[in-house]
Amino acid sequence: MEKSSKLGLDASFNSELAIGGWDGKVDQRGGGIFGKQATFHPTKYLNGILNWLKKQSNFDCYTNTRVISVEEKGIELLGLGSKEVTVSTENGHSVTCKNAVEATCVPLQKLSVIVEMKFMRTYAIAMRIPKGSYEDCLIYDSEEPYRYIRFTACDEKDDYLVIGGCDHKVGQEDPSGRFEELEQWTRERFTKVTSVDYAWSGQVFESDDNVAFIGPNQGQKHVFIATGDTGNGLTHGTIAGKLIADEILGRENAWANLYNPSRMLSILKNLPGMVANDVQVNLQYKRFLQSDITDIEDLVPGSGGVLNKGLSKPLAVYKDYDGKVHTFSALCPHMKGVVCWNHLEKSWDCPVHASRFSGKGGLCVMGPAKGNLNPEDENAKTAQSIAVEG
Ligand code: FES
Repeated sequence: MEKSSKLGLDASFNSELAIGGWDGKVDQRGGGIFGKQATFHPTKYLNGILNWLKKQSNFDCYTNTRVISVEEKGIELLGLGSKEVTVSTENGHSVTCKNAVEATCVPLQKLSVIVEMKFMRTYAIAMRIPKGSYEDCLIYDSEEPYRYIRFTACDEKDDYLVIGGCDHKVGQEDPSGRFEELEQWTRERFTKVTSVDYAWSGQVFESDDNVAFIGPNQGQKHVFIATGDTGNGLTHGTIAGKLIADEILGRENAWANLYNPSRMLSILKNLPGMVANDVQVNLQYKRFLQSDITDIEDLVPGSGGVLNKGLSKPLAVYKDYDGKVHTFSALCPHMKGVVCWNHLEKSWDCPVHASRFSGKGGLCVMGPAKGNLNPEDENAKTAQSIAVEG
C-alpha cells in the first residue's frame, strides 16, 4: 500500500475494514482500499468501439476467417530497404501490409513470449442478492488461488454478485467442484445470497512479471502483439490501442519499455519462477505415457478421454450423446502436447501451452495452436467439416 500511495494512488490499509453485507461467520476483517475506482459495462464499451470503427472509411472486418501465419519479410538495414508483413488465412488468402497486430489472446507462434506466461482456467458464478444488501465494491482476497466479488444490477428485486477465482493451470487439474467451492465460499460470508443463476469458466494468460506484453513481437519490427493480460484485459486492451498506434506512427510513448515483449530485466527478476514453470510445463509431456481410458466402451455419452495403447500414438476419443464415437490424434498441433479431456467445458485442453479444441469436432477454439486436432475416423471428419461449414 505504501508504494501505491507514493505513486499518487488513493490507497490505504484499514485493519478494521468490514464490507457492508458481509454478515456471515467467517471474519476476514482488514484490507487494502483503492479509492476513486470506476466500473463500466464491457460489452457496451466494445460495441461503442466497434460502432466508431465502422464509421471509419478504411475499416473492414472479416469474421470466421482463420489466420494461420503472420510473416515479416524483406530486409531493412541502416535505413535502407523495406519490410512487409504477409498475413495468410486458412483458405489460402493473404493480405500484405506494412504492419500487423496480433490481438489474439495469445500470439500464433511456437515459443518466445509463450514460455514467459502461465495459462490459467478461471471460474465464475453469478448469485442473486436482494437489492441494498451489499456495498457496491470489488473485493479480492489474498488466498492462493484467490477469489473475488464484483457487483452488478439484475432486476427491480435483486442485484448480482459475480464471484470468481479458483484458478488452476489449463489441463493440469480436474475442474470438478470449482463452482460449488465459489458458492460455498460466498454463502459462508454473505448469508443473504439466494440462487446461482449463471456459472462459466474462462482463460487467463499471466506473464512471468505480471505485466502485459504489448509492442513489437520478439525479433520483429512490424508485427505487434498484445498478450499476457494477467486478468486485466480491458485495461491492457485500451493501453495496447494507444501504445501500438504510437509505435507504428513512430511517436514517443513513455510506457513502451515497460510493456515491451522483449524486456528482460523484470522477467529475469523472476527467473527462478520462470524456470520452475518451464520445468513444470515440460513435465506435462509425461502424458505420452498415460492413458485416461482402457476401453472406448467405458466412456459414457457426452464424455471423452485419451486412449494410449503404448506403441501407437495416443488418441483423443469422444462419445457424443447419441453414442457415436469421434476419434482424433491426441497430439496438439502446436508442439505435440497430449491433450486432456475437460468434462466441464466438453473440450480438449492442452496442458503444455493451453490450446483448446472442441470436444466433438476437435476444432481449435484457442491458440497458440493454429490448426484443429487431426481426425482419425469418418465421424470426427464429418463433425469437423459440419462445424467448419456451419
Ligand atoms: S503443445 Fe503448445 S499448446 Fe499444445
